[in-house]
Amino acid sequence: MRQEILEQLYQARGGIVSGSELASRMNISRVAVWKHIEALKENGYHITSIASKGYCLPEYYNIIIPSEIKSQLHTYELGREIRYYQLIDSTNNAGRRIIQEEEPAEGLVIVAGQQTNGRGRRGRKWQSPTGGLWFSIILKPNLPIAEASQLSLVLAMAVQQALIKTAGLNCRIKWPNDIYLDNRKLSGILLEMSGEFDTAYYLIAGCGINANFMPAVLDEPVSGISTSLLEQIGQPVGLNQLLAVILNSMEVYYLKFKRYGFTALRDEFKRACFHLGKTIEIKQETKIISGINEDINEQGNLLLKIGAESVIISTGDVHILD
Ligand code: BTN
Repeated sequence: MRQEILEQLYQARGGIVSGSELASRMNISRVAVWKHIEALKENGYHITSIASKGYCLPEYYNIIIPSEIKSQLHTYELGREIRYYQLIDSTNNAGRRIIQEEEPAEGLVIVAGQQTNGRGRRGRKWQSPTGGLWFSIILKPNLPIAEASQLSLVLAMAVQQALIKTAGLNCRIKWPNDIYLDNRKLSGILLEMSGEFDTAYYLIAGCGINANFMPAVLDEPVSGISTSLLEQIGQPVGLNQLLAVILNSMEVYYLKFKRYGFTALRDEFKRACFHLGKTIEIKQETKIISGINEDINEQGNLLLKIGAESVIISTGDVHILD
């Protein structure tokens, strides 16, 4: 009901919608409308109440409205169902809970306005203030786990392409799945598995995009190594449209990957990646290795040339040294 009220106000594009109009559209009393509006305000929505006229949202208020996203989708599976939470611990955690409690259909999207316990790769915290695009998709790829893990690279390609398309940005990928611009991070992906190894399992693909906030709102040291769409473009982007473009792009890449494997996407990944041929350092749990990044192999691993030896790297953080 509250989501519906928001949609009605959002569609008025800053115009006033009277309480009685909302009440009759939703078949509830005006008092019930007022109570829902008060609850929405308490949840942090900027709704203005104008005495004896009605309610309105700021004209350029950038909130997530699932029906707006859906109206711009041309996917078969991704985003057919979208669940929105204004505030949540982590959309990946929510995905895990949903998998435990229900049997969700492939393509379910969970999106949040803000995360209190956003998680990044390798156990790191992921700061997720208002204005960012924080979402997870539930996938059931029906592939051996080793192959399915290549999806983290494939989904990064989909996000990179979507960002080029919507924002015209010359962003590139840092292996395995970070999107960078001007040597600073714009987006990251966290791919997690849920379920049994030998039976059908789910993947939770969480994606975070620093969209409509300035990196200065993030704590150091993350702030200094991050960028955002707002910083790059100089104006806020429409989050509903951005998410729709990303989901459309993700489904194209996902289907291609399931059909032809990473081999079919490898060359494109290599072109999107900005450190091939460079001297890099890989930080792993207990060691740091450096060498020349000579290739990305058919399995999506990074090949590091250390002297005469070629070492296969399947995990770690890349730092460019030259
Ligand atoms: C990384 O680069 O370390 C991955 C960051 C992934 C962040 C996203 S935001 C939505 C989803 N929910 C989370 O808790 N994490 C992912």
